[in-house]
Amino acid sequence: MSRKRATATSNTVKERHFSTTERRRLLLPRNNNPWLVKNLFGLFLLSLLTTVAVVKFFTFVQQPSYNAKAMSSSGSKILVYGGRGALGSAIIKHFKAKNYWVGSIDLANNEEADANILVAPESTWVEQEKAVLEHVAKVLEGQTLDAILCVAGGWAGGNAAHADFVKNADLMWKQSVWSSVLASAIASKHLKEGGLLTLTGAKPALEGTPGMIGYGMAKAAVHQLTKSLAAEGGGLPKESSVLTILPVTLDTPMNRKWMPKADHSTWTPLEYVSELMEKWANKEERPASGSLVQLLTEAGITKLVLA
Ligand SMILES: NC(=O)c1ccc[n+]([C@@H]2O[C@H](COP(=O)([O-])OP(=O)(O)OC[C@H]3O[C@@H](n4cnc5c(N)ncnc54)[C@H](O)[C@@H]3O)[C@@H](O)[C@H]2O)c1
Repeated sequence: MSRKRATATSNTVKERHFSTTERRRLLLPRNNNPWLVKNLFGLFLLSLLTTVAVVKFFTFVQQPSYNAKAMSSSGSKILVYGGRGALGSAIIKHFKAKNYWVGSIDLANNEEADANILVAPESTWVEQEKAVLEHVAKVLEGQTLDAILCVAGGWAGGNAAHADFVKNADLMWKQSVWSSVLASAIASKHLKEGGLLTLTGAKPALEGTPGMIGYGMAKAAVHQLTKSLAAEGGGLPKESSVLTILPVTLDTPMNRKWMPKADHSTWTPLEYVSELMEKWANKEERPASGSLVQLLTEAGITKLVLA
C-alpha cells in the first residue's frame, strides 16, 4: 500500500481494527486505544505509587517503631515493658500521676506514656533485641532510668496431650521470657546505678503446673533469670536490684470478665502492685536483690512472702 493511501485512511483509525501486517504497513502503534496511550504515563506513575505505599505499609507493620515526647534531664524516669496490658497500664497511670517520665514497650501504644516503643511480634528474638535497644537508646538520649518494670506476659493452658501444647508453650516463652530477657538487656545498658529492675513470674510456677505446662515453664525461667541477674557477675549496674513478683491472680478487667463469680477478695489489686513498684523504685522496703516475691491476697489484704 502506498504512503498516500495510509494517510487517506488515518481518519478512520479509531474505528477500525487492523491485522498485524496492516499495522506494520501503516506504521500504527500496537495499541490503538487513544485513552490508554494518552494516560500511559499516569498509569505507570499510579502503579509505582501504589507499590511504594504497599511496601511502606508492610515495612511499618513488620518493623518496630517508636515515638517520644521531649525528655527533660531532671526528674525520675521509668520504662514499663508490657505497658499496654492491664497491670502495665495501671502502673503507667500511677507513675504519671506522680510526675515521672514514663516510657512503654509493648505491641501497641499506651497513649498515657511519654514514649512508646513498639515490638514487632513476628520478628525473631535477636531482631527484637536490635530494634528495641536501638529505639530505647534514641529515646533516652544518654540519660539513665530509675526503674525498668517488666510486666509483659500472658496466659495459655495445656498439658502435654493438648492439641496446642507446643503452640502455647511457644507463645508463653515469647511473651514472658523474651520480654524479660530484653528488659534485662536494657537494664544492663540504661539502668542507673542502684536502680530497680522488676520481672513478673507466677506463684504456681514454683511447683509443677500440669494444666498449663508452657506457662509454668516460662515463668520458672523468669524466676531463674532473676537469680542469675542478682548473682555476682550477672551484668546489671552496680548496686541495682532485680526483684520478681509472683502473683496468683491479679484483679484485672479480663479476669473479672471471665471469672465473674470468683472470690475477688483473693485477687491482688493493680493499684497495690503499682504502689509497691513505686516504693521499690524509691529504694523503700526493697527486699534483697534476687528475691522472688509472692503476692498473697486474702480478704482484700495482700502480703508479700519471699519464695
Ligand atoms: N492476670 C493475672 O491474673 C496474672 C496472674 C499471674 C501472673 N500474671 C502475670 O502478670 C503480668 C501482667 O498481667 P496482665 O494481666 O496485666 O497481662 P496482660 O495480658 O493484660 O498484659 C500483658 C502485656 O504484655 C504485652 N506483651 C506480651 N508479649 C510481649 C512481648 N514479647 N513484647 C512486648 N510486649 C508483650 C501484651 O501486649 C500486653 O499488653 C504478666 O506477666 C502475667 O503473665 C498475671
